[in-house]
Order: sequence, then C-alpha cells, then structure tokens
Amino acid sequence: MSVVHTPSGRKMRLAVLASGRGSNFEAICRSVDEGRLQAEVVVVISDQKEAPVLSKAGIRGIKNLYINPADYESRDACDVAMAHICQEAGADLIVLAGYMRLLGKSFLRHFRWRTVNIHPALLPAFPGLRAQRQAVEYGVRFSGCTVHFVDEGMDTGPIILQAVVPVHFDDTEDTLTERILREEHRLYPQALQLIATGRVEVVGRKVRIRKQLETADTR
Ligand code: GRF
Repeated sequence: MSVVHTPSGRKMRLAVLASGRGSNFEAICRSVDEGRLQAEVVVVISDQKEAPVLSKAGIRGIKNLYINPADYESRDACDVAMAHICQEAGADLIVLAGYMRLLGKSFLRHFRWRTVNIHPALLPAFPGLRAQRQAVEYGVRFSGCTVHFVDEGMDTGPIILQAVVPVHFDDTEDTLTERILREEHRLYPQALQLIATGRVEVVGRKVRIRKQLETADTR
C-alpha cells in the first residue's frame, strides 16, 4: 500500500511533462488559480522544442525546459536526467499531460506511485496512440478518460479516476476528442486534488479513494 504524502503546511509541488499544446496543463493551472487544487506547478518539461506548453508555462512565470532525448546516449540516461531535474525542483508528483514518451525504471525508481497520466479512453480499452480514433473505429457506445498511476507499461498502471462520455454514430476522431477533452480538464485537477489531500492509496493494482481526510494517527 502506498500513499503520496505531501508534507503538511505547504502545497503539493507538481512537475508537468508534456509534448504538445498543454490544454490539460492550463486546466490544472486554472484549478490552482481558482482554489480548487491545492498545488503549484514548479516546472514544466517537454521533449519537443516548439511545444506550445512551454510558452504557456513561460507566460505564467513557471520554469520550463526543453529536454532533447537525442542529447542522451540512452533512454535510461535521459530518464535519469529528467528525474534529477524533477527532484531539484522539489516535485512531489509528476504529472504527464500529453507526454509522448514512455518513462522507464530509471525514472520511476524515484517517483514510483508519484507519477500520474491522463489517457483519452476508458482503460484498459484503447491504450496507446490515437485512442479516440480507436474508439470511433471500434464503434463503442461510450468512451471517456482515465487518470492513472504510471508504471513501466503503456497506459497500464492502477486507475485513479475515470469519466465516461457517449460516442455518437456520426462522431469523428475530432468531435470525440473535443468531448473527451472537456472531461479531461475537469477530471485531472480533481484527481490531483484527491492526491494532494492524501486520499489516494495504491493497493496492489487497485486504487482506494478514502472518503475523508485521515490524520497521521490513522494512516
Ligand atoms: C490529451 O488528450 C491527453 O489525454 C493525452 O494527450 C492529450 C494532451 O492534450 N494523454 P493537451 O496537450 O493537454 O492539450
């Protein structure tokens, strides 16, 4: 059993890893601004030099870095460097928000059950790339999004929260993506707030959400 603990008296510190536009990053920041998420983003890291998420972080005055995986001799070396940056920034939790690379043992060793991801499907259905297209092509009636802990697999870690959206007959990849994204922006901050308040624990491959805050005595 494992719970992410944030030292009391300060906000949970988030390191956001993202490869693209950063709409989930923005949703997380809005939740922080509006007091719905007791956290702060301490660093944003991207593997894409031109990723819009980096400039979005810059506008907000958040430290942002481009890490080029090709600069490292192996995936392991890159993972070690990333973990080091996150540790230096004092991150409690690593938040993958459209990060398109798999993280390996060398990274997760430092952030086991302290790394989360959002996936645009109801896992374990449609893992991997273009999950919305997979759902439309399969003809499922419902899809959605999943916030989960990250393990070494592709979208395989213990599930924290899921939200369901309908899939319509005429949906395209784009229309379904838009409908799911609205739910992502609600669900991800909600999951992060549950973690920030110490209510999430990993039990085997399942996640228990505690109903109420527990004190140090009962943990
Ligand atoms: C989202 O659909 C998320 O579920 C997936 O990547 C996309 C990132 O979008 N993992 P954005 O960069 O947060 O807008």
